[in-house]
Amino acid sequence: MTMTTANNGGYPDHLWRPMTQHQPMRGGLPNRMVSAKGCIITDQNGNNFLDAIAGLWCVNIGYGRTEVGEVAKHQMSELNYLAPIMSSGPVIDLAEKLQKMLGFDSHIYFSCSGSEANETAFKIARQYHLQAGNGGERRYKIISRYRAYHGNTMGAMAATGQAERKMGYEPGPAGFIHVMPPYPYRGHPKLTPEEHAEECAHQLEETIIHEGAETVAAFIMEPLISGGGVLVPPDNYIPRVREICDRHGVLLIFDEVVSGFGRLGTMFGYEHWKTQADIYTFAKGLASGYIPVAATVVKEHIFEKFEGAPSEMRHFRQINTFGGHPVASAVALKAIQIVEDEKLPENANKVGTYMLRQFQQSLADHPYAGEVRGKGMIMGIELVEDRKTKAPLSDDKVMAIVGDCVRNGVILGRNSNTIPGRCNILLIAPPLILTQSQADQIVETVTAAMRKAIAK
Ligand SMILES: Cc1ncc(COP(=O)(O)O)c(C=O)c1O
Repeated sequence: MTMTTANNGGYPDHLWRPMTQHQPMRGGLPNRMVSAKGCIITDQNGNNFLDAIAGLWCVNIGYGRTEVGEVAKHQMSELNYLAPIMSSGPVIDLAEKLQKMLGFDSHIYFSCSGSEANETAFKIARQYHLQAGNGGERRYKIISRYRAYHGNTMGAMAATGQAERKMGYEPGPAGFIHVMPPYPYRGHPKLTPEEHAEECAHQLEETIIHEGAETVAAFIMEPLISGGGVLVPPDNYIPRVREICDRHGVLLIFDEVVSGFGRLGTMFGYEHWKTQADIYTFAKGLASGYIPVAATVVKEHIFEKFEGAPSEMRHFRQINTFGGHPVASAVALKAIQIVEDEKLPENANKVGTYMLRQFQQSLADHPYAGEVRGKGMIMGIELVEDRKTKAPLSDDKVMAIVGDCVRNGVILGRNSNTIPGRCNILLIAPPLILTQSQADQIVETVTAAMRKAIAK
């Protein structure tokens, strides 16, 4: 066995990091992160970083909640694992809790990641149409949107509308089709945001018609596109999508992997648009990143079509070894309790709205600030070379700004490896416990980094 030791005198390094080019690290490895509390992550040298992206927009309740650890410890000692075909107390309770929070009759299938939750939704949608008895046996296509991210497994990647995430891994499975989401900033200048959204909804309907509605199983969308660049839909879009799906017998899936559990300033993203889906997927905020857990929530009218005698093979023929894990379920219940007890959606709304306003003011005259947008505790800053032409800022300059923020103690994201030439959006989505003074720190650090970037 060989052991490599980093040439910076650091630690042995065999870790293949996601989304990372390793070659530049040959000059020195990143510091090892060792602990975290609240919104702050600390490295091995005692440096503190304000995590303005909540891990991967998932640590909604913040880091270091020992009470969550206590729950995990207790559950591991009581019943550390149970095959998912059996039912542990925590998983039954979690299904019950989610059903109550959502407020409609449903059945809930658990898995371990957002990708799996979406794969599960696609399979349920296809099987539903086969078994619904309303002539939908040929429905298998899934329509989704450019810029959206739905996961890294083959089906979820096929639904993802980000070319750079797919290059080298295609062809994917057949039957995945994309339409444009509302993106007023880059929409036709003659259209108002609402007219632009109406046009996007119209294009969705035209796509369904041109594909043959009788071949389309489902339309999947995030209520607000997150990793693809924080695209906030005008208010008329989502209700129109619902109407179109209903008119053509297409199931509507809301991917609430990011927007669920407070991120948009409401417990669930769809509440903003007062529109419901047929199937919902959740992951990140479900256990606030304390443990892997994901859920596919299916409205009862769909679940009913899976009932019948065992020999009819109408049941859902999927199992995930770690789906419905008792420890993950107990931890999720505790994390949700904290979100509710501490009214974190309200804080996300209050502090998030404040931070958005501060950003809009501090960057009002900045030549690189194309648009600052967001909702609740999620915002995107679209960086451009020129505010008139909207030419995206170069990768090097965007990276320099992100790097400068990290060196100054604020970790944030950008929409890296998404759309060729359009990875120019800074992403900010801190834990929902963020305070106003931490919001100020984020705004000051990002603004200073952007000012420094012009000077170069
Ligand atoms: C909206 C959305 N859906 C699905 C996923 C996939 O989740 P996971 O990484 O847990 O597979 C992500 C991950 O970032 C996401 O942002």
